[in-house]
Amino acid sequence: MAIQRLSKLTISLHWIIAATMIVLLAVGIYMAETDAWALYPWHKSFGILIFPVAVARVLWRIKEGWPEPVGDYPRYEQILAKLTHYALLLGTLLMPISGMVFSSMSGHGFELFGIPLAAAHPSPDKPGEVVPVNESLADFAHEAHEVIGWILILAIALHVIGALKHHVIDKDQTLQRMRGKMD
Ligand code: HEM
Ligand code: HEM
Repeated sequence: MAIQRLSKLTISLHWIIAATMIVLLAVGIYMAETDAWALYPWHKSFGILIFPVAVARVLWRIKEGWPEPVGDYPRYEQILAKLTHYALLLGTLLMPISGMVFSSMSGHGFELFGIPLAAAHPSPDKPGEVVPVNESLADFAHEAHEVIGWILILAIALHVIGALKHHVIDKDQTLQRMRGKMD
């Protein structure tokens, strides 16, 4: 059976989203841990920018279906890979959504490279502070942003280990075809 090739769109969307998500996860944790306020607008802007791309990718997956595995692997391995792919796709949607809900409901608001999309709500009597729009929703979305972020990091680790296992141990075309370099 011939190995199914991946379309150029699948490959481009995969690597654009993969690189952006990995950088945003790292920057998100770094800026939250070290209070690096200067990074917040960049984190938010790239997070907002990747959202329509992630939606397009999910729609493309629904239209095109999942890629066929390159080999006849045990059922548990195929199920594990599929579950991981679902988690990754879901994570790429839920991270920008929770980030936008959290930032707007906390009163900080957000901009896309300087273009205001959700207004900030500065406190009338405490300079430099904001008034939350909906505190419980902001707390929930903040928690979701953090927890889903960590789940995503675990899923990416599993995903990369899987890709390397195919490449190094099985010596198959899984990684090569996603690199657009299939024999
Ligand atoms: C260096 C990191 C990465 C490597 C080496 C890698 C490698 C791969 C490979 C080889 C496949 C093809 C699997 C198959 O043929 O069944 C794949 C598919 C996939 N990867 Fe990655 N990946 C990486 C990062 C990511 C990240 C960060 C995400 C999302 C957050 C992601 C999401 C997906 C999804 C959803 C699929 C299923 C096919 C698709 O929808 O395009 N990957 N990846
Ligand atoms: C799209 C992909 C995104 C990823 C992968 C991502 C990832 C992360 C991660 C891992 C953190 C650290 C969580 C913590 O330890 O508190 C974080 C923090 C944060 N993210 Fe995102 N984020 C994304 C999008 C967004 C968007 C679109 C916004 C807002 C418009 C946003 C706003 C924030 C804010 C304000 C924090 C700081 C939270 C704090 O100070 O505790 N993020 N992000």
